[in-house]
Amino acid sequence: NMRNELNRLVNTVSDPETRKAFDTEMQSFFYLFTRYLAEKASSKELVWDRIKSPAADQIVPYDDLPTSTDPKTLDKLAVLKVNGGLGTSMGMTGAKSALEVKDDMTFLDLTVRQIEHLNTTHRVDVPLILMTSFNTHEDTLRIIKKYANQQLRITTFNQSRYPRIDKETLLPLPRHATDDKSKWYPPGHGDLYNALMHSGVLDQLLAEGKEYLFVSNSDNLGAVVDQKILQHMVDTNAEFIMEVTDKTKADVKGGTLIDYEGNVQLLEIAQVASEHVEEFKSVRKFKIFNTNNLWINLKALKRIMESEGMELEIIVNPKVTDDGVSVIQLETAAGAAIRHFKNAKGINVPRNRFLPVKSCSDLLLIKSDIYSLEHGQLVLNENRMFGTTPVIKLGDHFKKVAQFQKRFKKIPKIIELDHLTVTGDVYFGRNVTLRGTVIVVANEGQRIDIPDGCVLENRLLSGNLTM
Ligand code: UTP
Repeated sequence: NMRNELNRLVNTVSDPETRKAFDTEMQSFFYLFTRYLAEKASSKELVWDRIKSPAADQIVPYDDLPTSTDPKTLDKLAVLKVNGGLGTSMGMTGAKSALEVKDDMTFLDLTVRQIEHLNTTHRVDVPLILMTSFNTHEDTLRIIKKYANQQLRITTFNQSRYPRIDKETLLPLPRHATDDKSKWYPPGHGDLYNALMHSGVLDQLLAEGKEYLFVSNSDNLGAVVDQKILQHMVDTNAEFIMEVTDKTKADVKGGTLIDYEGNVQLLEIAQVASEHVEEFKSVRKFKIFNTNNLWINLKALKRIMESEGMELEIIVNPKVTDDGVSVIQLETAAGAAIRHFKNAKGINVPRNRFLPVKSCSDLLLIKSDIYSLEHGQLVLNENRMFGTTPVIKLGDHFKKVAQFQKRFKKIPKIIELDHLTVTGDVYFGRNVTLRGTVIVVANEGQRIDIPDGCVLENRLLSGNLTM
């Protein structure tokens, strides 16, 4: 059974020190696994009819936050980026945060600039902490090496590495602790709390007098430190704040905050029975979604870890390995921790605090002249009319980053673009300008080349074009 297999795995490590750490990790995994089995047996699901929209005081509008802030509270703040994920949905095999997103800078470079700017402006010492996984650790170290001699303190720690589980046998895939990467997985950003504790970083932060931690996804370029939110957290003794934002039709999959028997709680799509999924996705009942920008009181975190423990709802992620084996990964989400904290709440923030890069369409927008950079922060170009961004839909040929890079010799000028749809085998030359609504469709077996210097305004191009 699982227990024996894990013991066997632990015994494949000869160095006592390494074995001890690995054993601790496998025990945490085993605990998660037994919870999974117990839940499966009891089918302990949320009762749909008891799920209510959160009460008005559980979600504070951003405009209600204090206007005066005390920069001294920044001395008690640390910033953490969850950085354990690969950009698999964008065809990347390395850390997504190592992707160059704007002006030759990676996500990590932009984050470093944002925090350096915060520190110099307010003369404070907010440290940057990066949670990596076995998949992203080396990429991350390579990028931050160049900041070693600078003011900003950067700490990295590794999240857990859990064995993938064979779906049929419910046994671990790896046979040996050193088996290759494909046999293991990082168990989601909810692993943050365990990893903070076991790495010693939580105690280190508390010893330095840090009391608040701002957590966000490393691919969210809108997640800059917001002093108003921090001030509100301090003023109202909220132990946990989740930034949520209004849902649009494009965000139907994001987790949402609910009121369940008087408690504010995160509801993920994976927890919703199939007959309720449509309702979950609707903008009517669930108006907001979780940006994964989270503010955490560190003393409260320590208290919870040492008393009740941080049990989080399990998200079962089914995958198929490259060898065709069906596996499951048991994962958790950081936002699910909200129900353990006192005085926890959501704050409904403006959309610009959620600027993630989840696809190459997002990447095109971010790289374009729609945005420029100020101290590592994206700002909307002031020449853009109406303050909205264009809708961009790149087809499957542009799904992978490598393809995207090949197909755009240079990023077109899109300051006057409203809508772009591209499907099929299409290539863009240099200095292309797109305005209004532009649709380019190359049919099966055809290829379209948009030549250098071309201006397309309210145009539909299709078929086999030579321009
Ligand atoms: P996502 O849920 O968007 O997934 O992660 P991902 O793994 O980065 O992307 P895909 O699905 O492979 O394309 C949201 C944030 O959580 C981090 C990611 O690095 C990202 O910043 N994350 C995710 C972790 O830190 N650990 C994990 O185990 C998973």
